[in-house]
Amino acid sequence: MEQAMSFLEHVQVIQGGMGVYVSNWKLAKTVASSRPGFVAGTVSGTGLDIVYARLLQLGNPGGYISQALQALDQMYDTTIGKEIFETYYVAKGKGPKARFKNVPRPTPKPANGSSGFPLPPPGTKATYTLELDEQLIKLLIAAGFAETWLAKQGHHGLIFINFLHKIEIPFMYALYGAMLAGVDGVLVGAGNPDGKPNMCNMLANHEEVYVELNVLYKESGEKFILPFNPKRFDNGRLTAKPLKRPAFLAIVSLEDLAFSLAKSSTMPPDGFVIENYKAGGHNANPVEGIFKRDELGQPVYGEKDIADLEAIKSIGLPFWLGGAFASATKYQEARASGATGIQVGSLFALAEESGLLPEHKTAIFKEFKNAKDDKAMVRTTMYSPTGFSFKVAMLNGTLADKNIYENRQRICDIGLLQQLGLTKPDAQNVRKLFQRCPAAPVNGFLEKRGMERNTEDKRCLCNALLATIGLAQITKDKNGNEMEEPSIVTIGENLQGIREISCNGQTSYSCRNVVDYILGAGKKFA
Ligand SMILES: Cc1cc2nc3c(=O)[nH]c(=O)nc-3n(C[C@H](O)[C@H](O)[C@H](O)COP(=O)(O)O)c2cc1C
Repeated sequence: MEQAMSFLEHVQVIQGGMGVYVSNWKLAKTVASSRPGFVAGTVSGTGLDIVYARLLQLGNPGGYISQALQALDQMYDTTIGKEIFETYYVAKGKGPKARFKNVPRPTPKPANGSSGFPLPPPGTKATYTLELDEQLIKLLIAAGFAETWLAKQGHHGLIFINFLHKIEIPFMYALYGAMLAGVDGVLVGAGNPDGKPNMCNMLANHEEVYVELNVLYKESGEKFILPFNPKRFDNGRLTAKPLKRPAFLAIVSLEDLAFSLAKSSTMPPDGFVIENYKAGGHNANPVEGIFKRDELGQPVYGEKDIADLEAIKSIGLPFWLGGAFASATKYQEARASGATGIQVGSLFALAEESGLLPEHKTAIFKEFKNAKDDKAMVRTTMYSPTGFSFKVAMLNGTLADKNIYENRQRICDIGLLQQLGLTKPDAQNVRKLFQRCPAAPVNGFLEKRGMERNTEDKRCLCNALLATIGLAQITKDKNGNEMEEPSIVTIGENLQGIREISCNGQTSYSCRNVVDYILGAGKKFA
């Protein structure tokens, strides 16, 4: 396997996965084709089912989705693409005031049809098999395929896909879809992805895989598993030929997780992205906890939160450094420390090709023109229902704005970040599965064994991140007035590169300019 992944040694820059649909196929494709083999483009795998269903309801802009879905049907002699298209496509698009039709919720149910789980006698073991709505599985596979397929058209560069470990349920289906389209690499952050490299291996041979779900309040001997058997799915149509096994890169913040993954009992990753707390998106929480805060309420990071690169190097696997590394100098510094290259997000998020709405790019550029200080522009917040800290651009009119946040009615109608848990045993000693989100209505969260303090200041990232790419749901505010779900913009702490490339916010730029800015214009790599 090592031999097959030797292409990784050449990858100098990984354009980081940016969800939801910020790093979409257009960005990843343009990046990957700028220096094929030396710069990898990454599509975000988060929420693709919802993005694709909503784009179809906007009339299939540019006709790209239908092309990709047709390719799926032709390559694998299936009708999944056609079914998805017919389910969600709205000719000429939905009206601006009409709500998007929702996709099936990621709600696993007991496969044996039972409605609950009897409390097992103490000290015994029990494994429960769950299943997911088949329409949702089809949509996840089709969207994972389509996004990767579109990113891979017309060049020989590298396309990776990014997932958050915390979003457990959609992962194996969307990954399988991406593998059906020949994805070159998989990056997983926000948790310990042990087991996932081996899952890639098994899916490449269409073997049955399962995810063991994290279920709150289960007994110690209990396991909840969600299996997926490609051979039993769609009459095994997708399984005619073995697939390419993508490289697997684990995104970690410190050496301890890297060491433990390297010693995995199933399969180690092929490399690591070492991402520090300055990066855009979610960050690992400070080692010393989130309760020590600065005067702005931001969790405080220190020396202990910086990875020991000598230790990482001693593992012997390739690694890339992420988090404020997007400059020629920092790239050289990373290489000198033994890294193969760097992972870059924020600079690409503001490039013309990214999925971020142009109005948000303009708003950030405007702040540069007004010489706003970086520290006032970006905060490390605890808004995310995941419990991880989350970088946010403090833009007016977005969910970062206190008034907008307070005017929004708490609802949870997407549920990607929901936690699974068990109710207390009833009179018959039976428990039921529930799903809850700390950003959902507080009463519902409390009824599901949650604590009020865990809901404080939590903001609905599912709806907000969809709004940020132009796919906002229509909803009602606290006074019952119709409104669009507000956006939220995440970006890293270091804005220097964006300032320089955009000439202090006076001009837009392409992702090719970002690659030139880091690697030098017109340089060849060997
Ligand atoms: C808008 C945005 C969204 C991001 N979303 C994700 C994500 O969904 N998953 C992930 O692993 N990293 C995510 N990241 C982190 C990037 O992949 C990358 O590692 C990071 O941005 C590198 O640091 P930089 O922002 O200083 O360049 C995101 C970053 C940005 C700016």
